[in-house]
Amino acid sequence: MSKQILILPGDGIGPEIMAEAVKVLSVANEKYALNFELVEDVIGGAAIDKHGVPLADETLARARKADAVLLGAVGGPKWDKIERDIRPERGLLKIRSQLGLFGNLRPAILYPQLAEASTLKPEVVSGLDILIVRELTGGIYFGQPRGTETLENGERKAFDTLPYSESEIRRIAKVGFDMARLRGKKLCSVDKANVLASSQLWREIVEEVAKDYPDVALSHMYVDNAAMQLVRAPKQFDVIVTDNMFGDILSDQASMLTGSIGMLPSASLDIDGKGMYEPCHGSAPDIAGQGIANPLATILSVSMMLRYSFSQTAAADAIEQAVSQVLDQGLRTGDIYSEGCNKVGTQAMGDAVVAALRNL
Ligand code: IPM
Ligand code: MG
Repeated sequence: MSKQILILPGDGIGPEIMAEAVKVLSVANEKYALNFELVEDVIGGAAIDKHGVPLADETLARARKADAVLLGAVGGPKWDKIERDIRPERGLLKIRSQLGLFGNLRPAILYPQLAEASTLKPEVVSGLDILIVRELTGGIYFGQPRGTETLENGERKAFDTLPYSESEIRRIAKVGFDMARLRGKKLCSVDKANVLASSQLWREIVEEVAKDYPDVALSHMYVDNAAMQLVRAPKQFDVIVTDNMFGDILSDQASMLTGSIGMLPSASLDIDGKGMYEPCHGSAPDIAGQGIANPLATILSVSMMLRYSFSQTAAADAIEQAVSQVLDQGLRTGDIYSEGCNKVGTQAMGDAVVAALRNL
């Protein structure tokens, strides 16, 4: 039976980078006889324009039915003034939470060809290979109560809530330990346990889960120190496990160690390993429509999808190898460009990956 992949290009550069990722996916589909059927739908601002909401029920139903979801990016200035509850980002948060995609894997790997593109010294980042495991369906992103109220003196006050239950912490901690076990066997749990009650519980539960993983070396770090260590000596990290908001911030930071956020894919998995795959970067409205965005993060998200949702290791490896080859050829989009390289646009980059993949 064929497997269904739901394609959600989204907004801004989303459709441009997705077009290239779909080309690559289609070649892999053929070459490795994957029997994938692609279905496309809208999310974010595109869904607001079409349905009046950032994630229509029918789209959510398609996502539930699909075997995996591939997403571009959402949001843009056109929808910035819309009320908070139906902003484009809400569509993304809703699909994550409705599909139960609590485990967000964000690898930050430095391709040796891009050591020059990092703003950090090559010796600080060369060989970098970190995996950030971010909790994705809890914490301050979803906590209630939240809102704005007017005080007696007429002043407005806004508030959010940062809750974590034991079971939410336990299941993401397990993902962290499982991933560490498959890699360098080092897990760093990042929290703010010196201040936050939710972080104190986080640390307690992570310690508990650690008893089942005696082969993994666990450490704890406060998030402010982790932010500092990530630029001071990033190679000390193997796997980092952290909450929703800290993971959002640290993964953007980690991405710059690798030269560009335009290189980083991500996987968001439910308890059974069903997943949604998306680049870590946003919709970059400032460069949308110009054909200059880097499609590699989305292309690498296809590779993660083949690996994690379909166990198609050979096809996943091949896509990664094809990406590495185009970097070897000196092809660079603007975000990863350095002197002496060949600057190309979104399409040319996608075409080069397709050609490399065909020839493998
Ligand atoms: C990300 C993004 C999203 C997040 C936004 C677009 C809601 O920054 O995937 O990191 O904060 O999770
Ligand atoms: Mg983010």
